[in-house]
Amino acid sequence: MSKVKTTYFCQSCGTQAAKWVGKCSSCGEWNTLVEELVKKESKNDRLQLFSGNKNPKQSNKPVLLQEVGLQDFPRIPVPGKELTRVLGGGIVPGSLVLFGGEPGIGKSTLMLQLALRLKNLKVLYVSGEESEQQIKMRAERIGITTNTCFILQETNTQNIFQQIVEIQPQLVVIDSIQTLHTSIIESSPGSVSQVRECAAEFLRFAKETNTPVFMIGHITKEGSLAGPKVLEHMVDTVLQFEGDTNHIYRLLRATKNRFGSTNEMGIYEMSGDGLREVTNPSEILITHREFATSGVAIAATMEGNRPMLIETQALVSSAAYGVPQRSSTGFDLRRLSMLLAVLEKRCGFKLAIKDVFINIAGGIKVEDPGIDLALVCGILSSNEDLPIAQNVCFAAEVGLTGEIRPVNRIEQRISEAQKLGFEKIFISSFNKKGLDLKSFSIEIITVNKIEEVFNQLFG
Ligand code: TYD
Ligand code: MG
Repeated sequence: MSKVKTTYFCQSCGTQAAKWVGKCSSCGEWNTLVEELVKKESKNDRLQLFSGNKNPKQSNKPVLLQEVGLQDFPRIPVPGKELTRVLGGGIVPGSLVLFGGEPGIGKSTLMLQLALRLKNLKVLYVSGEESEQQIKMRAERIGITTNTCFILQETNTQNIFQQIVEIQPQLVVIDSIQTLHTSIIESSPGSVSQVRECAAEFLRFAKETNTPVFMIGHITKEGSLAGPKVLEHMVDTVLQFEGDTNHIYRLLRATKNRFGSTNEMGIYEMSGDGLREVTNPSEILITHREFATSGVAIAATMEGNRPMLIETQALVSSAAYGVPQRSSTGFDLRRLSMLLAVLEKRCGFKLAIKDVFINIAGGIKVEDPGIDLALVCGILSSNEDLPIAQNVCFAAEVGLTGEIRPVNRIEQRISEAQKLGFEKIFISSFNKKGLDLKSFSIEIITVNKIEEVFNQLFG
């Protein structure tokens, strides 16, 4: 029996320290160091189960890059366009994917759906959170039947690998990494050292057997994956499932992807029978009203390589109490303050004594600066109580001097707006260069300053 050893781990970044200190020396967080039991790994502990042989793996020899063949490992096609796009074209054999999201967002549902839809693949779904019956109930709700999906309720990684050797699955799903524990380390499940060691075991398994592994990971209150830095370094791909649990839409993004672009995004809709793909987001995110309403403006945004028209809503009213309120859902509050300051200082609109509320329809978060002009126009529209015509949309960034700045992929934005039946789009004059205005049937209005837009809309 080896001597019991304890070490302190920062629960935020995973740094190890010999003694307790109030502030983590690496990430600077306070009060995050926790004592954990660590048992020194002895040679017999680490079972070389998954490699099939008891001998340690022989060291690799260098190979000429041009001699490395790719054709041996084609990607595994996944059902569903959204997931395929986010993964960069399918599952890469031997890849380790971390799938994060807040509790209740639908991680288990999406992974089970994937497991059930991969009908030609033997899948092992390991659950440390739910019983077999609960998973069965969920599968019935989703309504897909398959005879290639195994469910295993287990939290000890050594036992899991034993089952893996028996079943020989072609894809492994872990729900969730925080519930697993390995016998090598004695600290409790969910602690940084456990999470790291369990993930490392699956990493080794994935690389040695060329089996893809999906690991579900919970997100902490602050929005980072628990034991965040350590896991993100290790895995090949980090997927994030975001969205407001009160809304039905969920966004799937890749925040890291060794095999594809991190620009891509997938949209899902949570329905009574599982997650459904949303292939025409623009049509859903715009409300078709009978009459134009003040404060509503449509932005032609880009999410990755995908154009999307989004409804922005603003409400400006006199501050009831001394301090005006600023609140924003789906848009960065600091950027909103900046836009309001620009309106106040550069354009002379008196908004400092007004409450301003912003909402992006559908509960989705937008980071594209091309949404600025729509928001500004929505705010002005609500302030003046004059509606913007429903056939108008906007695609431009607003700068600190009140200038209207160009945005990327303007043709794609304009085409999407035209496709959805908009008749006018406001863009920056700087975007005009190289743009063939005649090739679009939609009226393209180029502007330089916010005042120009204001005069065109309400003047
Ligand atoms: P779940 O996948 O358990 O979330 P996570 O694993 O991320 O914690 O799903 C959570 C919610 O989804 C739950 O509140 C119920 C809802 N849901 C549906 O609305 N429809 C469905 O078909 C399923 C399976 C779940
Ligand atoms: Mg779950």
